[in-house]
Amino acid sequence: MDASYLPVDIQLLQPDLDKPFRLYLLVGDCFVPYSRQGEGFTEEIRRRLLREGVRTLHIRQEEKQALRTYLNRNLQALLLDDSLTQQEKSRIVYDTCIYQIETLWEAPEARQIQESKDIFRQTVDHVVSSNRDAVRHMILMISHDTSIYTHSVNVGLLGTNLAREIFRDSDRDLHEIGYAMFLHDIGKTKIEGRVLNKPGRLSRSEWEIMKGHPEKGHALLAEEGHLTREASITTLQHHERCNGEGYPRGLKGGEIDELGKICNLVDSYDALLAGRVYKPSLSPYQALKIMKEEMQDHFDRQMFKEFLYMLY
Ligand SMILES: [Fe+2]
Repeated sequence: MDASYLPVDIQLLQPDLDKPFRLYLLVGDCFVPYSRQGEGFTEEIRRRLLREGVRTLHIRQEEKQALRTYLNRNLQALLLDDSLTQQEKSRIVYDTCIYQIETLWEAPEARQIQESKDIFRQTVDHVVSSNRDAVRHMILMISHDTSIYTHSVNVGLLGTNLAREIFRDSDRDLHEIGYAMFLHDIGKTKIEGRVLNKPGRLSRSEWEIMKGHPEKGHALLAEEGHLTREASITTLQHHERCNGEGYPRGLKGGEIDELGKICNLVDSYDALLAGRVYKPSLSPYQALKIMKEEMQDHFDRQMFKEFLYMLY
């Protein structure tokens, strides 16, 4: 497919609202202009496209920023739209988070972090308003691949949901927890591309560079004035393991904050499902089996049970 076009799920497009980009319909291998800027995308047209099995329109790559701005401005309206199901809203939230993380990764600075915070806040509100079945659907819907954007959003959603279960009898602020989960890996923006994107196993020296990302993430958020207590924990502790074999500090069980343990658990799960160039991706069942049989001492036992309960 032509790489200069980007697919957009039509559920993300609010009908009858000005759109600062042009939409294209893929017909065969041609992209045909579907509407002029700000014109022509009504509820009736959206329903007709869905009836005809068309789920995506396209925009030109150079209008990607306009799409992100549009999604950020309209997320709340879409989440309040009674014509959309809870499942459709989950998809919208997921896609919007992916776009937002991409933007943040390109420019990890104060203004983008603040904008991301607003999106994550609305995402957490959506999670909190979802019942258990809707949460399970959300978890089944998420894709697992090697993209750092997908991984960040998955850890954000899984971590917020697990924290919601674990802290159900306390008044912990899930907005702050969600923000911290989504940004746990932000230090990777400071890891050089030849190491971060290396298609294969890292050498010993490259691995040492990679292991610096927790502290780099912590420093980045502090420098940009967005280091919260929760984000301080998730950035620094998401690779610590209960058996003391994690990094950067090799903390053990009780030395690791509960948020650090939650983040490590969901980070490990998503990494197993995503696979790596030298490791195959696993099904949820296979991943949980390995976590239970081979990685049990990495995790808090009770927390792992809560995680199983959340998934099944
Ligand atoms: Fe990480």
